[in-house]
Amino acid sequence: MDAYQPLGADPTVAELLARRPHLSMRVAGGLLLEGVPLAAIADALGTPTWVIGAGTLRARARRLRAALDDAGLDAAVHYAVKANDHLAVLRILSAEGFGADVVSGGELRRARMAGIAGSRIVFSGVGKSAGELRLAIGEGVGQINVESAEEIELLSRIAGTMGRRVAVALRVNPDIDAGGHTKIATGRASDKFGIAYGDALALYARAAALPGLEPVGLAVHIGSQIAAPTPFRQAFARIAALVVGLRESGHAVRTVDCGGGLGVSYRDEDEGSPRALAGAMRATLGDLGLLLVVEPGRWLVAPAGLLLGSVVLVKRQGAGEPPFIVLDCAMNDLLRPSLYEAWHGLLPLSASRASAAPRGAHVVGPVCESGDSFARDRMLPPLQVGDRVAILDTGAYGAVMSSTYNARPLAAQALVDGTRWTTIRPRQEISALWRDEIVPDWIMPRRVGA
Ligand code: LLP
Repeated sequence: MDAYQPLGADPTVAELLARRPHLSMRVAGGLLLEGVPLAAIADALGTPTWVIGAGTLRARARRLRAALDDAGLDAAVHYAVKANDHLAVLRILSAEGFGADVVSGGELRRARMAGIAGSRIVFSGVGKSAGELRLAIGEGVGQINVESAEEIELLSRIAGTMGRRVAVALRVNPDIDAGGHTKIATGRASDKFGIAYGDALALYARAAALPGLEPVGLAVHIGSQIAAPTPFRQAFARIAALVVGLRESGHAVRTVDCGGGLGVSYRDEDEGSPRALAGAMRATLGDLGLLLVVEPGRWLVAPAGLLLGSVVLVKRQGAGEPPFIVLDCAMNDLLRPSLYEAWHGLLPLSASRASAAPRGAHVVGPVCESGDSFARDRMLPPLQVGDRVAILDTGAYGAVMSSTYNARPLAAQALVDGTRWTTIRPRQEISALWRDEIVPDWIMPRRVGA
């Protein structure tokens, strides 16, 4: 994925902007997301603050929809809620006609809270608890993607006690290595996900024989941040062969869930193409009379979001060594660089700063870990204390992966829509960090002499 290729020169400010039509730099307003100067949001809410562009989300949703339609596919989109689960994001994407892919009871409740009908929700995940399965059945979830023989038995028992019959798809592990970062690869036989390819036929038959279950199809998801269509095509071809085999054995197979995984361009890599993905679906599964489903997360939301931070300190080093630019945002806000060595573009909000000649710098957060780093040896416009910056393409797996490590409250969130913007989550109050903590009275210190 992003940072795992040999690195050439860093893209310049102009190159970063050229690939991101939703961003622009104006002499007076500085960096704009859609029609809103980001400095205005930073002035009003302070930093760190996440910002997401509704117009950008809609535009990407429509590009994906058009790619599927133009390929002549009968395909439904179930947005992978894990990428960004803010209710406003869910509302925008559901208004575009998308359902949801959820992986926990919490995500299911969120999707329902955003007004997404149970019937338009697919429940995936390798370890759903009995309570979560009961919740899903109770909410009338459209499909549960089962991932193991054990889960099939459990779900049948639960559906039986509830007197219900649930549509299930078997998530199959196609044993395809899509490349990329090992922490987000899911389609290799050694990964924890899915039913082994060779067991799928027997388990489909088992599910069909059990009470309470209606096997309706197959699901596959090979990983994330995948640009090339080849791994998708290989995985879908294996699934297509299984569909044919199942039908030959007399089973009904109505649907195939093709998963998510389409990549974006963080640095200078190619962005995953919805048209190429649709082409791979069409070529492999298109003639089987299936209802096809895709579950994208990152491709829809990553480029639409950014994280605003401010420079709190410029720590100079010995001659020839780049300075440490210390921001007020950190790994507790945006974990991706620390966890996956992910590369994220960084732009100053001020146009005059952005046009200055770049120099080498390390950009870090203030958290007490060396891994709390956003960029090493990066060529950047010279940044000074008080300058504000935007860390780009953080709409997916950004705010959702935040923590309050080092007692740092969760950042504020804002939504831009064309020329208007509004707060969609205020900065967490510091007292919220300990409000729910209980100190048992027996550990209170005794007063001397008491
Ligand atoms: N469907 C399933 C079953 C998944 O496990 C995932 C992602 C998706 C769909 C959506 O994948 P996407 O279209 O977003 O690639 N935190 C990591 C990414 C983890 C992805 C986990 N599963 C990161 O920041 O790169």
